[in-house]
This record gives sequence, structure tokens and C-alpha cells, in this order.
Amino acid sequence: MKSIDPATLCVRRSGPLRGHCRVPGDKSISHRALLFGALCDGPVPIDGLGSGGDNVSTARALMALGVPIDLDGDRARVVGVGLRGLTPALEQLDCGNSGTTIRLLTGLLSGQPFTTTLRGDASLTKRPMRRLAMPLRQMGASIDGRGEPGKPNEIYPPLVVKGGALHGIRAALPVASAQLKSALVLAGLQADGPTEIVEPGLSRDHTERMLRYLGAPVVVDPGARTVRVDPTGWNGNLRASPLVVPGDLSSAAFVMVAALMIPGSDVTIDGVGLNPTRAGVIDALKAMGADLTVEITGQAMGEPVGTVRARASRLRGTRIDGELALRSIDEVPALAMAAAIAEGETVFSDLQELRIKESDRIASLARELGRAGVGVTEQPGGLTITGVAGEGGRLAGGVVQPMHDHRVAMSGAILGLVADAETLVPAAEIATSFPTFSDVLRSLGASVA
Ligand code: S3P
Repeated sequence: MKSIDPATLCVRRSGPLRGHCRVPGDKSISHRALLFGALCDGPVPIDGLGSGGDNVSTARALMALGVPIDLDGDRARVVGVGLRGLTPALEQLDCGNSGTTIRLLTGLLSGQPFTTTLRGDASLTKRPMRRLAMPLRQMGASIDGRGEPGKPNEIYPPLVVKGGALHGIRAALPVASAQLKSALVLAGLQADGPTEIVEPGLSRDHTERMLRYLGAPVVVDPGARTVRVDPTGWNGNLRASPLVVPGDLSSAAFVMVAALMIPGSDVTIDGVGLNPTRAGVIDALKAMGADLTVEITGQAMGEPVGTVRARASRLRGTRIDGELALRSIDEVPALAMAAAIAEGETVFSDLQELRIKESDRIASLARELGRAGVGVTEQPGGLTITGVAGEGGRLAGGVVQPMHDHRVAMSGAILGLVADAETLVPAAEIATSFPTFSDVLRSLGASVA
């Protein structure tokens, strides 16, 4: 018998997936619940918190900055210390694999009267930070990073953030990025005047929604893709309030695509966040002919929440670009798997940002699709995938190479559910965002061991 490393998932061709499930709390919203909870004026209970490695990195970093946090599964209690109550960390802050942790903390720490060093794992250490450092330096912070030969203007983690008195600025962001926007909002809350942030496209707006819910002076003009933070006359208090995190649509996307791919499947995912700035995956899948029923059932902290029912569907190729690409940026790996089994070509473009995610996702996805025998070509900012439905419909198994990227690992796994032979997935990275991935799939009937 072959012995398989327990951290390796063995995925086999599966029969129909059926039933209801939930996915862990939204990773983006969980980071913000922890961070903004820490800045509140008292205890903040959080329910539905994502327990993946990235969120744990944010919680640990805040604890190191003197914020009392009790973590208990998907619940947490953060004792907010206020905007001026953080204390210097005794050691470097380890942000692990998490871009959101390092970027939002850098914005926050830019206004704090002490110096902090933020580092990360092998993947985070390769992610560029200049576009974050430039506007924060302009506001008055000192931010240094590691240089790399041949990249004279770029900086990479570890970052050394020397905070201080900040001035408001008007920042026109070079790319639509919620991490960058949120970092500047956090710096702007500590500045001596208004800060205005303009994006070339509307990135996810969880920061704006949650900070407004907590009483921060943040005004948005979505039409002009502008956020204005004006702390003038504000008492600096964020109201300690209970926070409820909806399920992560980015995790749900893998379950949805798995259900769409496997004939006879009918799966409902309950309690999922359906923020329109994040929900492009639903529109993209519908454009591919997916049988998806979406129902908004409530609101949490200004975020729409609901259910998504996915039934097996014959998918066809489509185009995913422009604002649809931006609204489905993290779901491109799942969408690429849907494209792999569709009929015809799916063209993904305007996705240059995918080159600098947890891995170079364009290269990672092209490699995984190629391994499975799917026709794929890579462009600088996109992928063209020829689905196997029109090509005889066969997919090979094999060994997935996640490249430190949770979403590449999960993509390889769901493709394995419709492959002819066994697929082995080194699974350690999956816990970054979706620690219950294999349990959820198994509970619906998938062959994942
Ligand atoms: C995130 C923003 C996006 C997204 C990332 C999470 C956030 O990144 O891809 O997974 O929580 O703000 P960018 O800000 O780099 O676009």
C-alpha cells in the first residue's frame, strides 16, 4: 500500500455532491474585525471569525502590540485599547502568509509613536510593498524594506515602520487594491487633516462598511471611487460593538464550482457574505451558464449575507475582464477550474495583480491546468483556457504543486473531483483560509481522504 503524508489530500473522481454546508468566516472581514475591534473603546465580541492561518497572524500581531484577545474557534473577544492604546511589540511581528495583515498593520503603525518590524513567510517576503510605502511616507511615516538586486525601486518585507505624526493627503492609487486603500484609511484616521483616496476601480469595501458601522469619520463616494477620512473634530473613539462575520464567499466559490462540475449535484451554502464588490464570481459563473440561486437573507455590519444554491450545470466559456475581473480577483483560481470543464474558451484578462498574490497565480494555474491536460495559454495579465467539454472531456490526475498558495491547492483538489485518476494535494496551505475544506467536501459526498 502507498503511504501518503497525512498533510496530503487524496482526491478521487466523485459522485454527486448534495446537501447544505457552511464555510468559515470571511478572511478579509475577519482581519478587519480583529484590527478595528482592537481600536475600539472596550470589549468587542466577534462571532463567525475565520480561523485560518492568515487571521491567526493578525490576532497574534495585535496581541504582541498589547491588545488582549481570546480566540475560541470561530469566536473571539478583543478588548479594544483605542487608537492610541497600542504598545510597542517586543519582537518582530510575524505576518505569516498574509498580505492583508502586513499591509493593514503597516498603515495603522504608521501613525503610532514607535518602531515596528513586520516580516512574513517565504511567499510574503517576495510580495512588493513600494506602492504601500510611497503614500505612507508622503503622510509622514518612515517605511523601510528589503531591496532586491535588479529591482532598484521596489521594497519587500521585512518592513521597518517608524510611526509618527501624519498629515492628510490626496492619494490616487496606481491600482484598485483594498489592502492599500485600507492601510491609507487607517493612517488617515490618525492624521492631522483629511485624507482622500481615489482608486482606478472599486475594490472590496469591507473597511469602509465596518469603520462606518463603528462610528469612524469615513465617507464614501462609490461613483467617484473615492474614500474620504476626516478625523478633524472627531474624538478618536470607535464604539465597541459586537461583530458578526459572514461566511467567506471566496471559500464558498470552491464548493460552488465543485457542485457545478459534478453531474447530479445540488448544494446550498448558508450564511455567506454577498458584498457586491466581492461577488463577481456569481456573475461570472452565471455568464458561464451556471444554475446558481442566490438569496440575501440578512445583513451583518452593513454587509449583505445569504445563501447560494449551486446545481450541476453544463458550463460554457466566457470573458472575465475589467470590473468583473476586479470583483472576482480571489475567485479566479476556482473560476479557472470551471473554465477547464466548460465547453469553449474562457478568456481571463486585466489580472496583472494575480502575478503578485500568494504565488504568481497566472503561472500556477497554467501549470496545474497543463498537468491535468487542459489547453491553456498564459498572457502577461491573463489566461486563455480551452475547456475539455468540447475536447473529449478527459482530465488527468497527478500531484498538485501549491507554491505556498492555498487557492492553488484548493483549485487542484476540486479539479481532482472530476479527473480520471487520483489527484494528490499537499494540503498544508489550505488552512490559510479554509481549514475545514476537506471536511466540508466530504460532508457533501466528495471522495477526499
Ligand atoms: C484583500 C484584498 C485583495 C485580495 C486579498 C484580500 C483584503 O488584495 O486579493 O485576498 O482583505 O483587503 P489587494 O488589495 O492586493 O487587491
